[in-house]
Amino acid sequence: MRLNIAIDGPAGAGKSTIAKLVAKKFGLMYINTGAMYRAVTLMAMRKNIKASDVKNLCDLMESLSMHFENDKLIVNEEDVSEEILLPKTSQNVSNYASILEVREKLVHLQKEMAGRYDVVMDGRDIGTFVLNNAPFKFYLTATPEERAKRRYNELMEKHVKVCYDDILNDIIKRDHIDSTRKINPLTKAKDAVEIDSSSMGIKEVVDYIVKYIEKSL
Ligand code: DC
Repeated sequence: MRLNIAIDGPAGAGKSTIAKLVAKKFGLMYINTGAMYRAVTLMAMRKNIKASDVKNLCDLMESLSMHFENDKLIVNEEDVSEEILLPKTSQNVSNYASILEVREKLVHLQKEMAGRYDVVMDGRDIGTFVLNNAPFKFYLTATPEERAKRRYNELMEKHVKVCYDDILNDIIKRDHIDSTRKINPLTKAKDAVEIDSSSMGIKEVVDYIVKYIEKSL
C-alpha cells in the first residue's frame, strides 16, 4: 500500500502549511486539492463562466491541463499559485467546488496522482472519499476567528489589502457551503485523528503528526 497521508479541515486551519512540512519530512509529494478547485474557479471567472453554467464549465475543464511543480500549480503552462489565493477567488470557489462535474474531474486527477506517487494530500473530502483507504488521516481545525486571523496576516504579508471582518465572514460562509453541500461535504472521517490547532504553533502540529506516523510505521 502507498504511504498516503490525508489532511482535511475547514478553510484557514493551516492544512497547506502543515501538509507541506509533513511531505518534506517524509520525502512525499504534496498535493493541494484546494488549489485545484481554486484554479478551475479562476479560469472560469476569467472567461465569465458562472458556476451554474455546467456545459461551458465542462468544456473549460477539458481545455485545462494541471500539474504541480513542487509547491506551484501550473495550469496550461501558467503558474497560477499566487493569483488563486486572492480574495476574489476565495469568495467564489465554494460555489464552483459544489458542482458535481467539477468534483468528478478533479477527484479523478487526484486519485491518479495518489496512485502514481506517495503523497500528502490536503482538502475537504480526502479522508472520507478521495483517499478513503489512506493509512493516515488527520482532521485539522481551529476556531473561525483564529483561522481568519491567520488568513488576514498571510494576505497582509503579501501586501494584499484586506479587512479582517470580510475574511471572517468569508470563512464562516465557506464553512457553511463546504460542510452542507450534497456531494462529499467537509466532514471528519471516522478514522481520522482530530487536531484543534487554535492554540498550537505550526511546529507543534507538525511534530505531533510526524510522531504519530513514525510510531505506526
Ligand atoms: O483549502 P482551500 O481554502 O484552498 O480550498 C478552497 C475551496 O475549495 C474550499 O472552500 C472548498 C473547496 N475544496 C473542496 O471542496 N474539496 C477539496 N478537496 C478541497 C477544496
